Amino acid sequence: MRMPLWYGGDYNPEQWPEEVWAEDVALMRRAGVTLVTVGVFSWSRLEPAEGRYTFGWLDRVLDLLADGGIGVDLAVPTASPPPWFSLAHPDALTVTRDGVRLTHGSRDTYCVNAPAYREASLRITRALAERYRDHRAPVMWHVHNEYGTPCHCDHAAAAFRAWLRRRYGGLDALNDAWTTAFWGQHYSDWAQITPPRATQYLPNPAQALDFRRFVSDEMLAHFAEQRDLLRELTPGVPVTTNYVLAGWACVDHWKWSREVDLVSVDDYPSGRGMAAAEQTAFAADLARSWAGGRPWLLMEQATGYVLGPRASPKEPGEIARHSLQHVARGSKGAMFFQWRASRGGAEQWHPGMVPHAGPDSRVFREVCALGEALERIPASAGGSLIDAEVAILWDEEAWWAVQGPGLPSAEIDYLAAARQAHRVLWRQGVAVCFAHPSHDLPAYRAVLVPSLYLISDEAARNLAAYVEGGGTLVVSFFSGIADEHTRIRLGGYPGALREVLGIRVEEFRPLAEPVELPELGPATVWSEVVHLDGAEAVARYPGGGPAVTRHRVGAGTAWYVSTRLDDSGYARVLAHTGLAGSGTPGVEVVRQRDRVFAINHTEDEQPVPVDGTDLITGRPVDGRLGPGGYVVVPAQTRPAVDPRRSRDLPNHR
Ligand code: GAL
Repeated sequence: MRMPLWYGGDYNPEQWPEEVWAEDVALMRRAGVTLVTVGVFSWSRLEPAEGRYTFGWLDRVLDLLADGGIGVDLAVPTASPPPWFSLAHPDALTVTRDGVRLTHGSRDTYCVNAPAYREASLRITRALAERYRDHRAPVMWHVHNEYGTPCHCDHAAAAFRAWLRRRYGGLDALNDAWTTAFWGQHYSDWAQITPPRATQYLPNPAQALDFRRFVSDEMLAHFAEQRDLLRELTPGVPVTTNYVLAGWACVDHWKWSREVDLVSVDDYPSGRGMAAAEQTAFAADLARSWAGGRPWLLMEQATGYVLGPRASPKEPGEIARHSLQHVARGSKGAMFFQWRASRGGAEQWHPGMVPHAGPDSRVFREVCALGEALERIPASAGGSLIDAEVAILWDEEAWWAVQGPGLPSAEIDYLAAARQAHRVLWRQGVAVCFAHPSHDLPAYRAVLVPSLYLISDEAARNLAAYVEGGGTLVVSFFSGIADEHTRIRLGGYPGALREVLGIRVEEFRPLAEPVELPELGPATVWSEVVHLDGAEAVARYPGGGPAVTRHRVGAGTAWYVSTRLDDSGYARVLAHTGLAGSGTPGVEVVRQRDRVFAINHTEDEQPVPVDGTDLITGRPVDGRLGPGGYVVVPAQTRPAVDPRRSRDLPNHR
């Protein structure tokens, strides 16, 4: 028997008088809610003074939820230390790169390297675990919230130096890795090294990158301390922490995903309509890939759009479609921020499952309908049920490097390049996953490399071996340029990938104005002077130089795209490589091995290559889907797949 899906959201009962709680539970039952995350920002209500706990209210909330048959994802509230803590330990408040010590008044104002904060975090973790280890309600621990606060204080500086000593062993190695000979930055004593604080002009890019790695590692250490204590006190209860997605990546998700019991992500698309659907698929594929074949969870989404210059409601049906996009890719459910829209506080305008208008509202009716639909879909056994044909390389370190100082164009955008690769294939119905550059790649028919500026020697060898073995590699401009210390690989770009691509780039020519490439359309942002060194030109710049090249190596082929193409130009290059799907744009079909999800994101009725009985409505699906419609049907037959190319790769980096 498969478990039902999780459905619910962040529940913040401390914001409401107790009379509202009983109504909350009744409405949750009406909506089919099965799980709520409780207490994410409740530290000041749970420990109003050091070591003094007021658990009574939380006892009552958990009892009410348990009586209502609703599970609890119990939070450890370390993302928001109480005011008394900050007053007693001002050294634990975040310091920005400009040297400003932040004050209490928002959230996430802490330094993970401050000893007082580490101690206090473990104290509240222990208190919660001891209090609720035998309670009926908790089914999971939710540590912290969206780790992502870098601090530049003296505690952080000391920890950064310790981290650097571990990484480099000695100062000579560090001076070499950071190229400190430039601008006279040579360090002769560890004490001279600081985080990249505000400075006169451009900071050192290798220092900036190492600091981002350090921040990710130190936040992970903070998480792991709490996780280990929870595992000791409540063995068997999974521990997660919710990642913030896409536009802002503060941590190395491949690394983190090996440390959590369940990958969970928050997804807030910045686009609207079709763009939101594309971004949702991208986010869900990333989460599924980080989970490496294990189930994962959409921990937060919103019932409306919250990013961008103006907040707006999701259009009718979008709440369900976005949720199903995640479930189709292996999410154990669909969760929201938050259950009831707040009436005061910083996020009082953030939408909820119960909006300000109350349950007599379109949003709540859609929430109830979604709950009913999810009840009929058994939880997935995992994202590995999807056969991805293509991998897109994803590496936060490379992204951080491209966000570093002093690059030749401010318009090189790793996230945009990765999104474009995903979007173009999504529109054609090609199943995609993400892989780290050092993952085993032979399973994939093609591997796409968005502007992957930084690449290690090991990863470059991995890509070459993939092509030799018969793979199709499609590399976009500004890849393979730098080593892991952001040092340029000499002798011609794209350094580490020159040989496999069979080219040598002598010069970059960033573009101020678009140029037109025959057959491929406009080229923007970037161009290069490419010399062929074994490869052949597939498309040329107006001046005659190669723009897109192909190189046969061993049993495979390596393609290079030396400029930014628009979506249709990029799709045409992929079609040349043999990558073209047969999907209808806007109609998403996700095939798990034992069932198929079809979602129509368009406003017209569309044909879908799906037959059977819809698990949600019990009605037959006759190969057509109405505007905005969705169905889930059991797969007719288990697709025959070559096991070599049939799985999501385990996250074994
Ligand atoms: C998330 C966060 C939630 C809430 C939400 C609002 O990033 O985890 O606590 O702030 O955004 O959009």
